[in-house]
Amino acid sequence: MRTQVAIVGGGPAGLMLGRLLERRGIESVILEARDREYVQQRVRAGVLEQATMDLMDEVGLGGRMHREGLVHEGVELRFDGEGHRIALSDLTGGRAITIYGQQEVVKDLIEARLESGPPLHFDVGDVVVDPETGVVTYTHAGERQRLEADLIAGCDGFHGVCRPTIQDVLTVYERVYPFGWMGILAECAPSSEELIYAHHERGFALASMRSHEVTRMYLQCAPDAEPWPDEQIWDELDTRFGMGVNRGPIFEKGVTPMRSFVVEPMQHGRLYLAGDAAHIVPPTGAKGLNTAMADVALLASSIGDEAALQAYTRRALERVWRVQHFSWWMTSMLHRMSDDPFETRIQRSQLRYTVTSTAQATALAENYVGLPFITA
Ligand code: FAD
Ligand code: PHB
Repeated sequence: MRTQVAIVGGGPAGLMLGRLLERRGIESVILEARDREYVQQRVRAGVLEQATMDLMDEVGLGGRMHREGLVHEGVELRFDGEGHRIALSDLTGGRAITIYGQQEVVKDLIEARLESGPPLHFDVGDVVVDPETGVVTYTHAGERQRLEADLIAGCDGFHGVCRPTIQDVLTVYERVYPFGWMGILAECAPSSEELIYAHHERGFALASMRSHEVTRMYLQCAPDAEPWPDEQIWDELDTRFGMGVNRGPIFEKGVTPMRSFVVEPMQHGRLYLAGDAAHIVPPTGAKGLNTAMADVALLASSIGDEAALQAYTRRALERVWRVQHFSWWMTSMLHRMSDDPFETRIQRSQLRYTVTSTAQATALAENYVGLPFITA
């Protein structure tokens, strides 16, 4: 079999890349290791930046997002028992974020792909990529397959096979944080209209949502913690937010470790990495999904232009490192980082400055709603 672009991974990055290429008349085949049900149910990110929303519109898939997504024009930072609103839209000339679950984006992209035709294979196994020749081999429906491509897009996430294939040419930049996030989804109305990022001496807490009926909340915890009993989670949320939060049946619970990670370069031979395959951020800035989208917007616009492809790593990394800094900064400002009282006082000072200085609040707002995507 032959195609122009072999896309390994059918997460947000791979699916959006496929859609962008289809709109440009470039052939692709998407290979996904898991089944459709699994990919669509995986609970992850919830915040779409303005540029991700614009990209969904550009590829003709913004309809449900605009109907069901919740547009937010501000977020709250809470510390020392007080909330402070950061007016995202006022500070950024009208830009905003939208709450629309990652799995909803994935569902929209899968449905469009399956309707319009180009191949998307689920349940593929033993994927092997050759960056020199562009050949991808894999098992599908019990048979070994061989796909020849001009270019391979490694969109297979942090635990995929593409990045390890070229590890000898990569430099890794990494920071592992000594804590994780315990996340819950619960059937109850959100406790506030906007997201609350809370700094508390017992640790960070985040109040988010998926709809007017479904609450999403997170608590800083040990990186290897087992999910706590429901009552303990609710009581701890009350303490850290300094208010009685709405409670309801918890139907999803999990612990995510926190890491900052970047590889350079993001390409070798015919292989180009995008999204979590190339970099990870701690979720405090809500940037993981959005950065994956930024990468594929750039990659899609570079394909077919040799000079632009050569410049892919350099151009993608400019944005990747901005996002790395922002995510690290938000994480460091808001979490309990250590028992060191000097550190705590520095954090409080930074928080107070952020909510009282228009310059600093604008810097937060500009990064949070997201910088424009770059295209070739
Ligand atoms: P992925 O979504 O990981 O997609 C990669 C795809 O490749 C997957 O479908 C996988 O099954 C497939 N794959 C893997 N190996 C192979 C293979 N060998 N062959 C074929 N296919 C393969 N970000 C936020 O902003 N906020 C959050 O709250 C948040 N929570 C998260 C919680 C968890 C548990 C995780 C893991 C991530 C979270 N993130 C969050 C990050 C965000 O979800 C990711 O940045 C985003 O999913 C990146 O998209 P991607 O397409 O690059 O990678
Ligand atoms: C979420 O709703 O899942 C969410 C929101 C904001 C973040 C991270 C996750 O910073």
